[in-house]
Amino acid sequence: MAKGEAVKLAPSILSADFARLEAHAREALLAGADWLHVDVMDGHFVPNLTIGPIVVESLRRLRDEAGSFLDVHLMIEEPDRYLEDFARAGADGLTVHVEACRHLHRTVQAIHAQGLKAGVSLNPATPISSLEEILGDVDLVLVMSVNPGFGGQSYIPASTSKLSRIRKMLDAVESKAWLEVDGGIKASNVREVINAGADVLVAGSAVFHGDVTANVKALRFAAGA
Ligand code: DX5
Ligand code: ZN
Repeated sequence: MAKGEAVKLAPSILSADFARLEAHAREALLAGADWLHVDVMDGHFVPNLTIGPIVVESLRRLRDEAGSFLDVHLMIEEPDRYLEDFARAGADGLTVHVEACRHLHRTVQAIHAQGLKAGVSLNPATPISSLEEILGDVDLVLVMSVNPGFGGQSYIPASTSKLSRIRKMLDAVESKAWLEVDGGIKASNVREVINAGADVLVAGSAVFHGDVTANVKALRFAAGA
């Protein structure tokens, strides 16, 4: 993130009402959210099965209208197989898991070759040392603060220290990459994760469960932006 840029809020549509997805996502963007976080799961890398490129495609008109960003989180094995499909569907950024990529540098190159922003994500037990050789090549680092697969879980407290150690790594190489945190983010812990260095906040249940407009405003207020 460029210095001074405001913290971004990225509602995860996994917690939205899929019977009226566009309306629900529009409500979050109109209330002040910045990105739409799209959780893709294959039932192998994580114990859940969700959505694919067709849902990204269904959101591109709203993304264009709102000037938003489709932040696609690939919780799938061998993501290289689908990079082109998600790019064609309208994704703006593709984030892959280091644990799912045999040749991570080549995967990041392949995402960039599609003209998209490239992100890498770490599960809670994956050490930050796995970022060392790729840090200079990525546009985003996604720290999982829950075990991936489901919305509505509780924030893993050890994630805060992990965020601040990664923030130090990014600053040491003067990286402009976003540092995104994902899982269990609520109004009660946004200040903690921002102070640790996060600048993109994913929130699913905290946005889409209940009054979306009030939820987004509460997160914004708590974030101090
Ligand atoms: C979990 C997903 C998260 C999740 C966030 O595997 O990657 O994006 O949807 O949902 P909450 O904010 O409810 O934890
Ligand atoms: Zn996610």
